[in-house]
Amino acid sequence: MPFQIVRQDITQMHVDAIVNAANNTLLGGGGVDGAIHRAAGPGLLQECRTLGGCETGKAKVTNAYSLLCRWVIHTVGPVWQGGRAHEAELLASCYRNSLELAAEKGCDTVAFPLISAGAYGYPREEALRIAEETITAFLNEPDHEMLVFLVVFDKASFSVSEERFAEVKSYIDDRYAEEHENKRRWNFAVGSASMAAAAAPVQHMKQKMPVCFEEAAAPAGLERALDQIDESFTEMLLRKIDERGMTDAQCYKKANIDRKLFSKIRGDKHYHPKKSTVIAFALALELDLEETKDMLMKAGFALSHSSKFDIIVEYFISKRMYDIMEINNTLFAFDQMLIGGYEK
Ligand code: AR6
Repeated sequence: MPFQIVRQDITQMHVDAIVNAANNTLLGGGGVDGAIHRAAGPGLLQECRTLGGCETGKAKVTNAYSLLCRWVIHTVGPVWQGGRAHEAELLASCYRNSLELAAEKGCDTVAFPLISAGAYGYPREEALRIAEETITAFLNEPDHEMLVFLVVFDKASFSVSEERFAEVKSYIDDRYAEEHENKRRWNFAVGSASMAAAAAPVQHMKQKMPVCFEEAAAPAGLERALDQIDESFTEMLLRKIDERGMTDAQCYKKANIDRKLFSKIRGDKHYHPKKSTVIAFALALELDLEETKDMLMKAGFALSHSSKFDIIVEYFISKRMYDIMEINNTLFAFDQMLIGGYEK
């Protein structure tokens, strides 16, 4: 089941449980703790008084009172002391223990803040890495079917390395410039870039699809003829999963795709996925750029140099870098929609 990063105030999340980055007393404080207590109302503090505090790395659960969720899971992150006081293990156990508590309560959806990354001073990039790794590892275990949100408040919390950012930025700049330059030339030469753009795919389709027109013209044989034109997105996906020797679960988990969505796709030969879903599968299957374009075409999409999202995806695939978390971090840094998840 998927893991998504969203920029939001955690008190506004419509989920089964939200996680609070609390302190050992569990009696409220500043930051996200203060925001949760304010939004929940005084009942939350009253219940917290009965819990007898909480050790660092552990988690306890309460009701949610006036919040939009059903449960609040309180966990206590480590204070950053330079990295030599088991901070990483303690931080990972905050996520792990909170997720286990959420599973015990039967939660389908849980939202976390970036624990310890505020007042407790944990370096943000490290805190984010531990959050991502621990949540992903939990979700990859059998029977852990949950949708987990990592809620980051400000964009600065969500960083890619400066080096990666600069490299992707120059990749985008080059291709964006190239695209706009081409558009100008087309406008000048034929008067309308869109006419040229409209003509191109038709030519391409004609070359790609050897259709038997006599057979296709007869309504009775139409479906069979259309079947022969090309395999559908679903068929290509299932074929590639087999060719890679993956199980379905390995593939949709690696793609960060919801199990229910995968079942829907599996059961419908003509399923029309969202573009980001196709890309998520292309990454999970580690398709090269040509195969990715082919799979996109089967779902009616293409990669365009007019879209930053597309250029970023192209950058990673052409470098054969398939880590969805890293790609999503980069997409987020460039204000783009993220890959994977679930389709409403
Ligand atoms: N929604 C989502 N994220 C938020 C929100 C919000 N409403 N408010 C802050 N953040 P912090 P800690 C982010 O300081 O470092 C409290 O006083 C914030 O930008 O809330 O674990 C407790 O009582 C940061 O990235 O928690 C403890 O004494 C992240 O949440 C102490 O602070 C965590 O920042 C715990 O410190």
